[in-house]
Order: sequence, then C-alpha cells, then structure tokens
Amino acid sequence: MSNVIILGAQWGDEGKGKIVDLFCERFDIVARYQGGHNAGHTVQIGDKKFVLKLIPSGILHPGKRAVIGNGLVVDPAALLAEMQSLEAVGVDVKTQLAISNRAHVLFPYHRTMERLLDAIGTTLRGIGPCYEDKAGRRGIRMADLLDRERFGALFEARAAEKETVAKAFGIAQELDLARIRADYEGFADRIRPMVSDTARLLNDAIRAGKSVMFEGAQGTMLDLDHGTFPFVTSSSASAGGACTGTGVPPTRIHAIVGVAKAYTTRVGGGPFPSEALDAMGDQIRQRGNEFGSVTGRPRRCGWFDIPLARYSGMLNGIDSMVVTKLDVLDELEKIPVCVAYRTGRHEVTEMPATIAGLEAAEAVYECLPGWRSSTAGISRYEDLPQRAKDYLTFLENRTGIEAGCISTGPERNQTIVRQGSRFHQIFP
Ligand code: IMP
Repeated sequence: MSNVIILGAQWGDEGKGKIVDLFCERFDIVARYQGGHNAGHTVQIGDKKFVLKLIPSGILHPGKRAVIGNGLVVDPAALLAEMQSLEAVGVDVKTQLAISNRAHVLFPYHRTMERLLDAIGTTLRGIGPCYEDKAGRRGIRMADLLDRERFGALFEARAAEKETVAKAFGIAQELDLARIRADYEGFADRIRPMVSDTARLLNDAIRAGKSVMFEGAQGTMLDLDHGTFPFVTSSSASAGGACTGTGVPPTRIHAIVGVAKAYTTRVGGGPFPSEALDAMGDQIRQRGNEFGSVTGRPRRCGWFDIPLARYSGMLNGIDSMVVTKLDVLDELEKIPVCVAYRTGRHEVTEMPATIAGLEAAEAVYECLPGWRSSTAGISRYEDLPQRAKDYLTFLENRTGIEAGCISTGPERNQTIVRQGSRFHQIFP
C-alpha cells in the first residue's frame, strides 16, 4: 500500500474531509501536517455531522492511528475540547492519537496579538502569531510544555515580551499570564500520554510496510510561499508541507490527490479573479451552503479557475483531481469557467505573483451549457447527464489533470470513482 497526500487545490474548503474519511479505511495512519484549529473538516456519517479542526478525521475509524505532525500549531484547549467531543461518541482518542513532540503550542496571547495586528481577515485563532514565534525561534513546543521546569523558564521569557507589546497597545489587563501558565501546566498533564516523536513513529511504520494518508488543511492558494501572499495562511498547505510537517521524506510519498470544487470559493480577504459578485454567486452560496465551518463567515463564491488549477497541479504534482459539489451547479443554465486572465491587452494563463497583478487580472470566461437536472447522489459516471460529463471533460482538458473522482453530495455513497483512472489505481 502506498503513502498518499490529499490536499486542497484551491483556497480551502474543497471537501477534503469527506474524501479523507472515505478512503482512509485503506490506510493504517492518517497524518495532518500543517495548520491548526483554523481548519474545519466536516465529515457526515449517517445523520451525524462531525467538524474536526485539529485531529485528523481518520480518527473516526476504529483502530486507525491519527497523527498531529510537527508542522502544526496546537491550541491545547481546542485539542482537549475536540478530544472530549470524540470520546463522547465512543472514539478511543487516547489510543489512536499521536501528537508530535515538535509541534508548536498556541497560547491565548497569540490570539490577542492577532486581534491587534490582523490585516488580511484571518480566522483569529492565533495561528499566524504562533507560526511567527516558531519562525522567530521564540516558540514553545510540545516537548517543552511537558517539561514543567523548562516550560516555566520559556514561558516567563515569552510572557515578558508579550506583556511589553500588550502594554504598548494599552491592553495589558487582558493578558492574565499567571492564569495562562497554570492552565497550560494542567493541559500538559492531560496531553502527555499522546505526545511522542511522530516522525520516528511514521518512518518506522512505513518501514514496517504500513501506509500513511497525509491530510492537508486549507488549500494550495493559501500556502505561505505559493499562495496569494499576503492573503494566505502561515503554513505550507501544498504537497511539500507534508514532508516538512511530518518528517517523512519525499521519497516515501507515492501519490498526490488534489481536491477541487466544481466552482471556487474563498474565505477572508484577497484577490479572487473568478469571483461571482452577482445573483449567481449568491445562488451558489445558498445551494452549496458556503458558510465557514469554523467561523460561520459567508464564503465568497465564483467560477472554476483553470489557471489556478493548473498552477496548483504543477506545484503539487497532482496525479488525480477529486471534483466536489458538482450537484451545486445542477440548476444553472450556463456555467462560466475562467480560462485565462486579461491584463490590459494581454491574456495570460500563469498565476501573477503579486496582489497588484492578481487584482488587475480580469477573468476571461468560456461558458458551458448547464445540464439542468439533478446529479445529487449519483455514484456511477455513466449516470451523469452528458453535459455534466462534458463539463468535467472540459476541466480535465484545460487543466491537464484527470477528474478521477467526483463527489455528488455529502454522504459517503454520493461519490463516483472512475474506473480505469489514476485515482482508481491509487485507491483500488
Ligand atoms: P489564518 O489561517 O487564520 O491565519 O487565516 C489566513 C487566511 O486563510 C484567511 O483568509 C482565512 O480565511 C483563510 N483560512 C484559514 N483556514 C481556512 C480554511 O480551513 N478554509 C478556508 N480558508 C481558510
């Protein structure tokens, strides 16, 4: 069995949770490699809906190991709350979950700092400031948290810095540092049994013939390096992040699956060339229930963006694409697809590097006829209306990536796996 990365090919919220949940049966371990509780992975099982933020959704499968890799930033309060809600439905979290001793710990002061300084419309979970401390070599890691003496010394040093900043902003009274320290000492005792060297755990497992699914969070266009900087998250949401964020080398990765909606959404600020600011955008938002699973914010909606998907395919080396929420487009008479960007008199199909370049980029559309019949719940490719097949073929031809799997609803069985596809080889 091979090791596979499943990641978002757009701006996040592509429906990775369902795909991970659907195929993780075939893997021994599911590992998250970046982000924190800014992600929201929704998994629907029967009439139960789970929104997992930090813990890989593979945990919902009895016996599977779920790993929080070194690339994550972990808010222990959020983690413990999530653990509790999973334990309440009978999940054996303590046995199944492993947390990297090198993952960074997120503190309430990260949220405070973010509230003061956020310029891009983040999830306000403190994710960026925690990664700032990591890159600034000021972070506190899980292994530090577990060593009470070391934690005390590190925390006091950090606390002094944060207090200085808070005083400068006149909000020092909001930071109860003594309380935070005591809370975190308590968290440490509860988390301790699950913390280990997960890079060792994963590499040993792979050497012993076990398979790993790497579960990406957010999406490629939110990647710190490759996304629409600075309107991005603070971690490596593209394929490379799976290696740095878990300690599993690139030579051990066998396939990469990109998940993309049949249209495009984004949450928060930043350029979005194919955004539909008209009634059609509203229609997609309502039909697709495009409201953030973590913050509840309405998602911005627009059309499938070919240059973006090609860029994402190149950066990640996507072997096969999962197209989700096809059924959301069922009622449309025509479906625009962004095939290029126009700046002045020039048309380009490359992704501009700057915000100014992206903002100046006007989407060039080709319109495809809608199929105007229900695809909801269809599970065989042959049963799709011809125009829906034509739409998928168009996306495949223009992106150069196969649509090996299509999701037609939130349930596990509302999924098409195309026979003979690379996807089918990856998940036979
Ligand atoms: P942060 O990750 O909270 O720092 O937010 C940075 C940007 O990433 C903001 O535009 C957020 O809306 C966006 N973002 C973060 N997590 C997600 C996600 O899971 N789905 C979609 N957008 C996200």
